[in-house]
Amino acid sequence: MSSATPSPVPGNSTTIANPNKALWEKGDFTKIAGFMRESGEALVNSVGVTPSMRALDLGCGDGTTAVPMARLGAEVAGIDIARNLVDAGNKRAAALGLPRLKFQEGDACNLQGVADRSFDLTISIFGAMFAPKPFDVAREMVRVTKPGGRIVMGNWIPNDPTFVSQLLKISSAFTPPPPEGFISPMTWGVEANVIERFGQAGVPKEKISMAKDTYSFLSAEKSPAHFIDLFERFYGPTMNALEAARKSGRAADFQSQLLELANSQNRRTDGGTSIPATFLRVTVAL
Ligand SMILES: C[S@@+](CC[C@H](N)C(=O)[O-])C[C@H]1O[C@@H](n2cnc3c(N)ncnc32)[C@H](O)[C@@H]1O
Repeated sequence: MSSATPSPVPGNSTTIANPNKALWEKGDFTKIAGFMRESGEALVNSVGVTPSMRALDLGCGDGTTAVPMARLGAEVAGIDIARNLVDAGNKRAAALGLPRLKFQEGDACNLQGVADRSFDLTISIFGAMFAPKPFDVAREMVRVTKPGGRIVMGNWIPNDPTFVSQLLKISSAFTPPPPEGFISPMTWGVEANVIERFGQAGVPKEKISMAKDTYSFLSAEKSPAHFIDLFERFYGPTMNALEAARKSGRAADFQSQLLELANSQNRRTDGGTSIPATFLRVTVAL
């Protein structure tokens, strides 16, 4: 357990059936995802997607990586725990004319209804890392991927100096401690944990490769201040931290730390946003 990530729903966890689902349905990740489209497409282009593939995007949001995979011709299933994001994804697929892309609700800890060995490629970019039972997640990803297929994960790295890790660290400092037994999503950014989790799912460590990679949050028009405002209003973990900070009278301090973080990491000087963030890219060859 680590305190590097905010608790799912402070003060509310006993009254909500699934705090993991509630956390992501509370906000609207589509607002943040708008800054992630170029990196999502670049990542997909580097994976080697072909029209003959069946691909799963797990924790897909509204399709930052599912859409470019479908554009390359693959048959794509997007699975996400948040109903609002599944609906947003299906709207995007329809608007973009991508009939082979379907989004559905599901939990990465238990992909019930998804047959064994269904997919040539299972991808999860900052998605499955947020599910609360990491060993179950690894087992499910292995189960639904075909022998000879691949799993590709993108995971944020704990204590990394770049944007997302620092945003979550600041947020956790303003949020009450997580419930007993809570496993921080950031533990998926530690190589030994990745090996252990896939190891328990039957994958030898020789089949796992890991490398640091960079995702950039980009907007030509919107400023870092606008970007941070979106996190405060639409990103569950930051919304919870801000609520807790308001209760403890520390909201201004929290907000100024987030703004300072975004401004200090922004590479543009013309009012736009270009904020790079380092992540652990995991490839599992089955
Ligand atoms: C940071 S967002 C990333 C979304 C998307 N992959 C992207 O890059 O735009 C995390 C996503 O994981 C989803 N998620 C969290 N826990 C999940 C779970 N247990 N099962 C499936 N999806 C989950 C959230 O609903 C959210 O869409």
